[in-house]
Amino acid sequence: MGQVNFTILRYEILDSTNTEAANQARQGVDEGVCIIADEQTAGRGRQGRSWVSKKGSGLYFSIILRPRVEQRSITLIPIMAGIAVYDLLLKAFLIGPDIKWPNDILVGEKKICGILSEAVDTPRGLAVILGIGINLKGEVTENATSIQNEADLFADRDEVAETLMREIEKLYERFHADPASIVEEWKRRSTWFSGKAVRVTLGQGEIFTGITEGLEENGALRVKRPDGSITIVQAGDVEHLRSDS
Ligand code: BTN
Repeated sequence: MGQVNFTILRYEILDSTNTEAANQARQGVDEGVCIIADEQTAGRGRQGRSWVSKKGSGLYFSIILRPRVEQRSITLIPIMAGIAVYDLLLKAFLIGPDIKWPNDILVGEKKICGILSEAVDTPRGLAVILGIGINLKGEVTENATSIQNEADLFADRDEVAETLMREIEKLYERFHADPASIVEEWKRRSTWFSGKAVRVTLGQGEIFTGITEGLEENGALRVKRPDGSITIVQAGDVEHLRSDS
């Protein structure tokens, strides 16, 4: 694969960096262009949720990718992004996170980063918009935390963006050379990989419980139900099932 030129474009305000990146991809912009905004007025999360994106609180980052892999490996791209954020937090801030399937980055069960990957048809073929929101500052809430809360170090938005871009650059090369190794790397960084009691909500609203039992080659989660059957979860929400719930 030829070297991809990763570069950052900064905006003061956008509705959503993912939407801007998708528009640029449709206009033919090369892969490797990373869009960041100081704030988003309509930041989007997974499953139709919104992503609160106040100025100065977070890194709002979307990268245009034009992967040259078989269609079935595309789902590994957000898995790859989870690995990149995990390594960034560990190396740059000495924060020990966990990756909740598929790609929420948690610290002590509170979310510090969310990832939204969207496929877009463009005249140059399929593009993937990889959107990453990292909480840099902000109070700890019941469900969320930030780098500032977890580390003694100040998190400079542009330095975090630059380091993240370099981590993705390395992993993206590896993803093309050996997609299966991405799942292996994910497994090393997640306690959700196997033996975790979970409640799963599928896209269609079906809810079931079970124990996680590894990942498929494309990153889908295997969950063993109480009757012993295995369900392969391609998309959905997974919550840790506590003994009192
Ligand atoms: C989630 O956990 O639900 C995913 C959140 C993804 C948020 C990021 S912020 C940058 C990019 N632009 C968006 O509108 N969403 C993603």
